[in-house]
Amino acid sequence: MTNVIVLVTGGAGFIGSNFIHYYLAAHPDHHVINLDALTYAGNLENLKAIDSHPHYSFIKGDITDRALIADIFAGKKGFGCPHYVIHFAAESHVDRSIQDSSPFVISNVLGTQVLLDAAKNTWPKTTQNRFLNVSTDEVYGSLESTGYFTEQTPLSPNSPYSASKTGSDLMVRAYFETHQFPAIITRCSNNYGPYQFPEKLIPLMIHNILNEKPLPVYGQGANVRDWLYVEDHCLAIDTVLQKGQLGQVYNIGGHNEWRNIDIVHLLCDLVDQKLERKESSKRLITYVDDRKGHDLRYAIDASKMQKELGWSPQHTFETGISLTIDWYLSNLDWLADVTSGVYEHYYDKTYGGSIVMKVAKNEC
Ligand code: NAD
Ligand code: DAU
Repeated sequence: MTNVIVLVTGGAGFIGSNFIHYYLAAHPDHHVINLDALTYAGNLENLKAIDSHPHYSFIKGDITDRALIADIFAGKKGFGCPHYVIHFAAESHVDRSIQDSSPFVISNVLGTQVLLDAAKNTWPKTTQNRFLNVSTDEVYGSLESTGYFTEQTPLSPNSPYSASKTGSDLMVRAYFETHQFPAIITRCSNNYGPYQFPEKLIPLMIHNILNEKPLPVYGQGANVRDWLYVEDHCLAIDTVLQKGQLGQVYNIGGHNEWRNIDIVHLLCDLVDQKLERKESSKRLITYVDDRKGHDLRYAIDASKMQKELGWSPQHTFETGISLTIDWYLSNLDWLADVTSGVYEHYYDKTYGGSIVMKVAKNEC
């Protein structure tokens, strides 16, 4: 198919920007429109390398802006109506949702509904349009020490973030059931890789190790996450877009479970090795009070992706984490830019001991 127009929402964020790099290389004849509000998490530096790509366009705007979204789908922005929507745009950080859940409900629930309406009102019923909702394993809640999330696991979100993502998923599901709207949902585990804002565990630890700052580990560090290299998530999304069945949910994950404390130890060792440091950065590890309602364990059963769509991760954790550290070490300017004046990091008992990011600029 040529002249395909793909609307990527939230393409200036971590996964969205990786996806645009990946997608333009994989589909050089498709046109990507990146719609992003450029919140604290969105950064056009992530897309500098493809800024003048003939098949890439950027629109600064909010997914809750009905008039703007209607104009984009009506083709009034200088491109035709998008054939596909890959919906990444969201407030994505659990700790922030614990402090203030309002932006999460607005962007994640209302924003999804605005996009669904615009697409429903514009797309003809007979075409091959696709709306892919990029969701998360956190909608399933938390696991004990055994078992996996499958696509049949009941939805049981625990944080305001995951509740808002569940709201988004349920709107998508309802549009499919009610309007036969051409939607698919993907639910992925924790991603890591280049361009991740240093408020999330892995880039925060790399940033703090580099700057010899405390490494805050919530609770005992015994919570478990299932890590996937971001490029493998991008490949999975593209696979679902090309081969997935409408109305289906696809879980995405790499069978790569780590306790937080073990990840932090590994990052200390690897960064120290790469910088040839004599003194171990493990001395910087600081146990802090636990995150409120902290989910114990996430682990994805991705066998449906593997069996039905033939996807499996291409990167081992060993290669992925090494590539990630190398990227941060080679992009110190990026790291300084996204952190300088943007946030100050402190440990505050009044917030139950969770780590609070004080946003000094770009704050809504
Ligand atoms: P991110 O916070 O890095 O990026 C979010 C992007 O969305 C930013 O560029 C931001 O400017 C934009 N945005 C936010 N609100 C917007 C609005 N109202 N209108 C337009 N743009 C807006 O997030 P991420 O980690 O890249 O996550 C992307 C998506 O993937 C999210 O939907 C998230 O729930 C989901 N997800 C993330 C992970 C993960 O490990 N990071 C795992 C599974 C699923
Ligand atoms: O599972 C997918 C989800 O993964 C995505 O939907 C979210 O958008 C993404 O942010 C991520 O959520 P987590 O809450 O799992 O990621 P985070 O990096 O915030 O935390 C990972 C683990 O590390 C978690 O158990 C909390 C802990 N942690 C985190 C930070 C930032 C710490 O111990 N110290 C920290 O400073």
